[in-house]
Amino acid sequence: MGQCQCGNSTESKEKYLAPLKTILEGYEGKQKDLIPVLQKAQDEYGYLPEEVIKEIANRLNLSLSQVYGVVTFYSQFHLEPRGENIIRVCMGTACHVRGGGQVLNKIKEELGVDDGETTEDLKFTLESVACIGACGLAPVIMINDDTHGRLTPDKIPAILEKYKA
Ligand code: FES
Repeated sequence: MGQCQCGNSTESKEKYLAPLKTILEGYEGKQKDLIPVLQKAQDEYGYLPEEVIKEIANRLNLSLSQVYGVVTFYSQFHLEPRGENIIRVCMGTACHVRGGGQVLNKIKEELGVDDGETTEDLKFTLESVACIGACGLAPVIMINDDTHGRLTPDKIPAILEKYKA
């Protein structure tokens, strides 16, 4: 689970949670507000740290397990910090048969992370995904909003280099 970034003092915790309090002010504090509040909190913090989830549960009168239940149900929510760049490697059928697995392995090797993990410097998060609708370019990866197609493992280092700067 992600570490709270708020430090230990009450003052720094309050400062850390101030943007969340501003978000919560825009809602009535009802349970129906949970998903939009989680979305805005994630936009603000980049993920959903434990302290943020506790505060949301508290303010919306929900138990922690109810909030975690929603957060873990929807793939849009993240409990760990995410990388500055999100790499999505297509593992759909067309990409798979054209070497998507080797492309994924090369990226894992280059970044030293497994599928679903984030590099220690928080530059990259690696995820394998289902068909992203660009089968004609298989095998395909997306880095943020950029599509890279007709890949071979040897093209990967130069592509990653562009996003390291
Ligand atoms: S299978 Fe990879 S884009 Fe469709």
